[in-house]
Amino acid sequence: MASPASAILGTGAYAPARVLANAELAKMVDTSDQWIVTRSGIRERRIAAAGEETSDMGAAAGRLALADAGVAPAEIDLLIVATVTPDMPMPACACLIQHKLGLPSSATCFDLNAACSGFIYALDTASAMLGSGRYRRALVIGAEKLSSIVDWRDRSTCVLFGDGAGAAVLGRSDRPDRGILGTNLGSFGDGVDLLLIPGGGSQLPPSAASIAAGAHFIKMKGREVYKAAVQGMDETARRILEQHGLAAHQIGLVIPHQANLRIIESIAQYLELPLERFLVNVDRYGNTSAASIPIALDEARRTGRIRPGDYTLLVAFGAGLTYGSALIRW
Ligand code: ACO
Repeated sequence: MASPASAILGTGAYAPARVLANAELAKMVDTSDQWIVTRSGIRERRIAAAGEETSDMGAAAGRLALADAGVAPAEIDLLIVATVTPDMPMPACACLIQHKLGLPSSATCFDLNAACSGFIYALDTASAMLGSGRYRRALVIGAEKLSSIVDWRDRSTCVLFGDGAGAAVLGRSDRPDRGILGTNLGSFGDGVDLLLIPGGGSQLPPSAASIAAGAHFIKMKGREVYKAAVQGMDETARRILEQHGLAAHQIGLVIPHQANLRIIESIAQYLELPLERFLVNVDRYGNTSAASIPIALDEARRTGRIRPGDYTLLVAFGAGLTYGSALIRW
């Protein structure tokens, strides 16, 4: 096993104050609390206020992670923001957050788009950059304002998503057996049509016709994504365990992407682990894409579900179709 390049020094999370419960959604589209809970496990989600942008939520989570790590903004030399909902197409959301947090102008700042797997991709990237010896302290943020890309008339998607942000501060690991031990990443590019926003890019720039057609909203083939998610998450989890010579029962806590309780239950079944071994908060936040894992990671640390010496497995799947897992030892 190669020495881990990096370790998580602190975490933080931010969720907007406004709670949108299923009962309220049932007044907006033809759905019910019972349908949403049975099919997805989601009971409520958070929705950003008008004028509360992805960079605001990301900065709030980042600030908490810095405080938790005891690291000053001036010490950060790398900021990676995983998001599919940057405040604007250009510049990078990372540059907006850099400014809001007062990070030094010498810091490398960029966005990364791997959809719901974005935080794991960003952890891998930051870890490799720290391992290069050219960076000392990284801030990795997953932040999303999915409410801005959801078609609130489409009941098949609008019930699933929410807003929020989570963050982690990374430094070089001082022990070879502690830190981010490894990652496993990949992508099924043949599945791009299953989950996408067709409009707003170079292929279909905004026009009156594209906006009237709702091309700037999330489109998803739910059933196909569901099957691919279960398969992809199971495979990447098995692969990383194998790479590190671990059995599933040695994992203290699995932190899966929070898309759907049924997907999480299927992964638990495949890995032959009880659901209690999983951090589940999809009932309270819905799917917050790249923010989902860092929000859950922060909750796990704050609620005492991670102890020194524990192995934690992060596992995600998202548009692309990307997948990824990360193995951490505390
Ligand atoms: N309320 C009531 N009925 C609904 C709703 C709703 N909100 N949405 C769909 N339906 C109806 C459909 O119209 C359909 O009706 P029909 O049989 O008359 O045609 C019926 O419910 C069943 O629809 P399905 O889409 O087949 O329902 P399914 O059991 O597959 O659940 C769901 C849908 C929850 C979207 C599921 O497929 C899923 O979770 N997929 C994974 C997608 C996901 O998580 N995507 C997030 C991004 S990727 C990621 O993060 C992993």
